[in-house]
Amino acid sequence: MQSWEELEAACRGCTRCDLHKSRTNCVFGVGNREADLMFVGEAPGAREDESGIPFVGAAGKLLDKYLGAVGIERESVYIANILKCRPPDNRDPLPAEQDACIDYLRAQVKLIRPKIIVCLGRISAMRLIRPDFKITKEHGVFFEKSGFALCAVYHPAALLRDPAKREDMYTDMKAIAARLAETDKPAALESVL
Ligand code: URA
Repeated sequence: MQSWEELEAACRGCTRCDLHKSRTNCVFGVGNREADLMFVGEAPGAREDESGIPFVGAAGKLLDKYLGAVGIERESVYIANILKCRPPDNRDPLPAEQDACIDYLRAQVKLIRPKIIVCLGRISAMRLIRPDFKITKEHGVFFEKSGFALCAVYHPAALLRDPAKREDMYTDMKAIAARLAETDKPAALESVL
């Protein structure tokens, strides 16, 4: 298994897809490398590309509020994205870009072995849970895959656009915090996601 240092160096020097040509920073991931809870978003936005840190813009600030509201410190979790480089104009990640990048996330999951992986939004859920995942119907539902507990919540950017979804997000985040307390860390696994 790759070490964190090897993995991060490979990711920062990555040229597997064209997004490396326009990146300011590779947005590798941030947080506790022994976290019980891992969040996976879609791809860096402008603020993340500038800073090299995931979820630091308006959507990230909202995510921090929900973490605080259910008693989880941002420093205790690990946050990453499906893509490590920003797509131009914040367009959806292309399947080929996801394929090129997903091994970095797989390696991160293997090193962390989180109790629960929470997909932030539809794109992440469609990649990690099921290609036909329906976020409006299935947010907050727990799934098991490769020995990991997974669920998806609305992307915080969707909550900024549609505040009517915020009540559901709060309910889902409370359920995730409760589940965390009663879930064991998974054993080391050969294949993930
Ligand atoms: N949206 C995402 O999906 N990821 C980020 O890091 C920021 C915004």
